[in-house]
Amino acid sequence: MSTSSRPIVTCSVLTTALLGACVDDPTQDEQSSEISTSIPNNYLHDNPTGKSASFSLQGEIRLDGEFFQAQGTNGRSCATCHLPEDGWSIRVETAQRFFNETAGLHPLFSLQDANVPGLPADAVDTVDERRARFSMLLKGLFTRNVTLPVDNPVTNLLFTRQFDLVEVHDPFGVSRVTGTPGSATGRMWFFRRPLATANFKSHRVMWDGANTVGVDLRAGLLKQALGNVSGAQLGPVLLGDDPIIQEIVSYEADMSNAQMIIKSVGALDNDGATGGPEFHASQPLENGPFTLYDAWTNSTEPRRAQIARGQALFNGVNANGRSCLGCHNAANDGQNVNGTMFNVGASDPQFATKEMAVFTFQNRETGERKQSTHGGRGIRTGVWADLNRFKTPSLRGLAARAPYFHNGISSTLAGVIAHYQTALGFVYTPEEAADLTAFLGAL
Ligand code: HEC
Ligand code: HEC
Repeated sequence: MSTSSRPIVTCSVLTTALLGACVDDPTQDEQSSEISTSIPNNYLHDNPTGKSASFSLQGEIRLDGEFFQAQGTNGRSCATCHLPEDGWSIRVETAQRFFNETAGLHPLFSLQDANVPGLPADAVDTVDERRARFSMLLKGLFTRNVTLPVDNPVTNLLFTRQFDLVEVHDPFGVSRVTGTPGSATGRMWFFRRPLATANFKSHRVMWDGANTVGVDLRAGLLKQALGNVSGAQLGPVLLGDDPIIQEIVSYEADMSNAQMIIKSVGALDNDGATGGPEFHASQPLENGPFTLYDAWTNSTEPRRAQIARGQALFNGVNANGRSCLGCHNAANDGQNVNGTMFNVGASDPQFATKEMAVFTFQNRETGERKQSTHGGRGIRTGVWADLNRFKTPSLRGLAARAPYFHNGISSTLAGVIAHYQTALGFVYTPEEAADLTAFLGAL
C-alpha cells in the first residue's frame, strides 16, 4: 500500500465532528473541500512526529454515529474526550485549543470535571475562573472520585479489605479518611488520562480494571459505555441491549489505530514493514514479540534501522533481567494477553506532581505502609498486593496521544524510557534509549 493511493478528505475531523462545521486547516494543504460524515480507512491525521491513522472493520470511519452524539444534557459525547486525530484519546494541546477557541465554554469543560467537585455554576462565570477551575483538564487530566469498597461483615460477608486508608495529603483538599482503623474507608480524588477507544484485544477495561467483566471484553465495554452515558454525559440510564450502546461498543471494538507516517522515515508499511492500523486490525490476541519492523533490520536508511533496533531492545531482555515484552506481551500490540495488571511505579509519590494527592495505605495484618497517588487495582479489590497495579495498555498509536501513563506523568516517549530506567532499573545507553523511543513512536 502506498501513501499516495490513500483517499484524501477535506476538513479537520475534529471540527466537523464537534462543531458541525468545516474550517480550512492549513496543515492539510493537499485536501479538497467537502464536508464529510465519515472518513475512509487509513485517513491520515497530523501529530507532532508524523501522521496516524485508524482502520475500522466496518469499512469506513463514521463521524456521525452515536459515539459522536451528545447522549445527555451537558453536550458531551464520547468523542469529546476520545478523538480520532488524537489516537482516540485527547492531547493536552487539543484540550487547550478547545478552551482557547471557546473561552472555556466547550462541553469538555464541565463542572463535573472541575479540579474540585460540587462547585456552584457561578464559580465558572468568567474565563479566568474557568481557566483556574479547569486547570487539570487543561493538562489532559480527568477527575475520578473513588470511595474505597466498604468492609462490613454484616452487609458484605464475602469481602474483606486487607488495608485501610490512613493518611491523605490532597492539595485540592477533597480526599479524606473516614471511619477508624479496622473499619476505615475513605474518599480518594485523583486524575487520569483517557485511554484510547481503539485497539481493544484483552478483556481488561479501565486503568484500574473497574469495568472488567470476567474475561468478556464486549461485556466490559458495554458496562463502561452505560456508565459513561449516564455519568460523564449526564444522559439516561440505558440497558446493555439498547441500540445506542450496542452501536457505540461495536464502533470502538472494530477500531484499530496506529502511527502511519513519521517525518523523515516515511510510511511505516513500506518495504516489508507492517506498521499502521490495517495490519493491526488483523492481528489476533496472542502471546508474541513485536515483528512489525523485522524487514528493516538491515535497512540502509538509518532511521528505519534505528526503529528495528528499538524493536529488538523492546523484545529482548535488559541488563536488569526484565523485558518490556514480559508485560506488554500481546504480539504487535503491547497489551497483556491475560489482562494482567502491573505496578511500574507511575503512582509512586516520588513522581507526583504538585497537584497530585498522596494516599497512605496500611496493611491490617502486618502494619506495613504503602504510599501512592492512586492505588490502582487495589482500591477496587481491597487486596494489598493489587495496590498500584494498572492495566497494561496497548502501545499502538502512542505518538498521537501524549502524555503517558495513567496520570500523564511522562509528557514524551523519551520520558517514558527515562521513567523505566528510574523506577524499574532498566539500563540503556543514550543511543539505546533513542532507539527504543524511535520504536515506540512508530507504533
Ligand atoms: C469526559 C471525558 C470522557 C468522555 C466523555 C468519555 N470518556 Fe472514555 N475515558 C475517559 C477517561 C479519563 C478514561 C480513563 C478512565 C479510567 O481508567 O479510570 C476513559 C476510558 C475509557 C475506556 C477504557 C479503555 C481501556 O482501554 O480500558 C473506554 C472503553 C471508554 N473510555 C469509552 C468511552 C465511551 C464509549 C464513551 C462514550 C459513551 C466515553 N468513553 C466517553 C474520558 C472520557
Ligand atoms: C512490569 C510490567 C511492565 C514492564 C516490564 C514494562 N511495562 Fe510498560 N506498562 C506497564 C503498565 C502496567 C503500564 C501502565 C502503567 C500506569 O499507567 O501506571 C505501562 C505503560 C507503558 C507506556 C504508556 C502507555 C500509555 O498509553 O500511557 C509505555 C509507552 C510503555 N509502558 C512502554 C514500555 C517499555 C518501552 C518498557 C521497557 C522499557 C516497558 N513498558 C516495560 C507494564 C510494564
